[in-house]
Amino acid sequence: MAQFRLPKNSRIEKGKTYDVSGNSKNTRTFKVYRWDPDKDENPRYDTYKIDMDKCGAMVLDGIIYIKDHVDSSLTFRRSCREGICGSCAMNIDGTNTLACLKAIDDCKGDVVINPLPHMPVVKDLVPDLNHVYAQYASIEPWLKTKTTEPSKERLQSQEDAQILNGADGHGPAACILCFCCSTSCPSYWWNADRFLGPAVLLQAYRWIADTRDEATGERLDQLEDPFRLYRCHTIMNCTNTCPKGLNPAKAIAEIKKLMVARKA
Ligand code: SF4
Ligand code: SF4
Ligand code: FES
Repeated sequence: MAQFRLPKNSRIEKGKTYDVSGNSKNTRTFKVYRWDPDKDENPRYDTYKIDMDKCGAMVLDGIIYIKDHVDSSLTFRRSCREGICGSCAMNIDGTNTLACLKAIDDCKGDVVINPLPHMPVVKDLVPDLNHVYAQYASIEPWLKTKTTEPSKERLQSQEDAQILNGADGHGPAACILCFCCSTSCPSYWWNADRFLGPAVLLQAYRWIADTRDEATGERLDQLEDPFRLYRCHTIMNCTNTCPKGLNPAKAIAEIKKLMVARKA
């Protein structure tokens, strides 16, 4: 049987081990992916054993503690620390999620942290999001209108607003663009150059479904493509992984339904 291995310089090696837990009985061990583009070295997993009496409850607290007290070179994105900005998305304990919303107690065994999968790595836990942001820009994520501007704002009924916000607050407008979904989608792994992926398609649907927007036809035309939209095979990883409880697979299905309806 054919065997596949990563190229030599991509294989993840065992890295350094730091034990800063002192005599504490309340400890956890973090195993963190490290890679520095300025060093001619393979990626590695560094291991940090820390005293949980000195650290907050969330995985983000853990890596901030490591950065502040053990190894200041550890690199990751974060901003809001409450699931709003989407910048601390990473793969924790085998699942793409937000480090600030993932409790350390919910991780089994060592807390294993990797960057979001199938993205180029800038450094350590920071993925290169340039391509996915270019895809986001391609759907023109802003209100497009043709009719004369009203003297006040363009109003929307509560029912229409609910399409965007969701009756339970989990509608497409609640997406924080963390890209946990796109980086968990096998179709996106293999076709990211041409398939837009669930995050960007959910955003596309957010504008298509907006009753104030007057470019629905053009937006659907732009998606009518065997790759951009139709590479979604309803595998559902996206919906299962979304840390905000949104349903990108449903949004994609809604776009496909609109495509069919306009041909009928
Ligand atoms: S439902 Fe579609 S977009 Fe979501 S993971 Fe599956 S293939 Fe990807
Ligand atoms: S749908 Fe969910 S997982 Fe995907 S980008 Fe939006 S918030 Fe993140
Ligand atoms: S730090 Fe903003 S979502 Fe986690």
